[in-house]
Amino acid sequence: MKITVIGTGYVGLVSGVCYAHLGNEVICVDKDVQKIATLKAGVIPIYEPGLKELADACMESGHLQYTTDLGEAIQEAEVVIIAVGTPPLPGGGADLQFVEAVAREIGANLNGYKVIVVKSTVPVGTNETVEEIIARHTIHAFDIASVPEFLREGTAVSDTLNPDRIVIGTKSDKAADRLSELHKPLTNQIVITDIRSAEMIKYASNAFLATKISFINEIANLCEKVGADVTEVAGGMGLDKRIGGSFLKAGIGYGGSCFPKDTKALIQIAGNVEYDFKLLKSVVEVNNHQRFGVIDKLYRALGSLQGKRIAIWGLAFKPDTDDVRESPAIEIVERLLELGAVPAVTDPIAMSNFRKLINHPSIQWSATALEAAQGADAVCLLTEWQDYIQVDLRKLEQVMARPILIDGRNAYSTKQLETGRFAYYPVGRPALNNEDIAIHEMI
Ligand code: UDX
Repeated sequence: MKITVIGTGYVGLVSGVCYAHLGNEVICVDKDVQKIATLKAGVIPIYEPGLKELADACMESGHLQYTTDLGEAIQEAEVVIIAVGTPPLPGGGADLQFVEAVAREIGANLNGYKVIVVKSTVPVGTNETVEEIIARHTIHAFDIASVPEFLREGTAVSDTLNPDRIVIGTKSDKAADRLSELHKPLTNQIVITDIRSAEMIKYASNAFLATKISFINEIANLCEKVGADVTEVAGGMGLDKRIGGSFLKAGIGYGGSCFPKDTKALIQIAGNVEYDFKLLKSVVEVNNHQRFGVIDKLYRALGSLQGKRIAIWGLAFKPDTDDVRESPAIEIVERLLELGAVPAVTDPIAMSNFRKLINHPSIQWSATALEAAQGADAVCLLTEWQDYIQVDLRKLEQVMARPILIDGRNAYSTKQLETGRFAYYPVGRPALNNEDIAIHEMI
């Protein structure tokens, strides 16, 4: 099939490369001249395991092309996929200006029947707006379909090639058939539904996963108070098939480009129709609060943080990505700076992205975990990178000024730490060797 993907962000690029890998003829378009030049040179501007190899192979076989010429790319295609960004507006809603601009371009360049797919995460009803805009600019027939994307950063290629399901929202049988054909090699689980339900499936899925995370984080906070272990609790809960074990990892809360944005957008979507989505508002509130548990534990362990060197291990919102968007690390570091601490930060690949957001003179930028920990009053693990989990704890203890380990991701086992002198503060599990100085909680 001839496919044009508009927008070479995370979703667009990964989808384009994967459709090409399936043997389709794919053109990826972006208005960013520099980005297209980079892609043509074989450089992938995002960190995503396996993507470069796949893209290289597809370019070599001629299945994948990059261009800035939107008009020509639209005219060439049988299926046009809109995958441009929908960044959050200050009020929490999604900014649709890019989607709408692309719809106008599609309308102006249609030269025969095509299926137009919206992959960008858009509020319910947007596909219909896109349809109206295109119709206003063309005399040709076309069908519109919502095919939301569920890929995760860091595992985007395997998620796209092995999806749990493909959702196709359309009122046209012809479009449904064509898109089923396109996705058949990926899965048998193809859900064909109406457009608005497809749009809602995306938001509801992300909101539900975010709810699971905030729920287990609240259970974790409670476990700390009653002396239970949240990993045991989550393990026991997850065996119930109705609950399922995934997304029950307690920690410092979710970040990234999707959950924070999509939960707020769904609250806004509800608000627009005068529905007060109380549960989801609480999910967001719990998440915003959860990160400060790290500060609370530091305060309990050290008292005043003024002048204290605090090693921060991990800046990305999760491992295997250099993405720091909405990463809990941002507000944790900002709070440490406000409290007069000296954060010594490190991350295997997200450091330069983090520096673009915060570049305070008090921050010490460290190349390795042990360098950050050198002379530190405490280490806070914020992203569970393998390198940090496998660190030599004896060496760590030797280089630190005080052996205090705040584990924001429950990455270490109590067994690992029992032999050392570490005061260990996990999330929702009993602390080890802790002699809290300040009992008063700051958060
Ligand atoms: C998410 C969805 O999983 C994906 O389907 C959607 O398309 C985009 O949003 P992503 O943001 O890439 O994907 O990452 P994900 O692996 O889902 O993690 C999101 C955040 O939740 C991370 O900050 C992670 O650390 C946190 N998380 C996840 C937890 O705190 N606990 C968990 O049990 C799982």
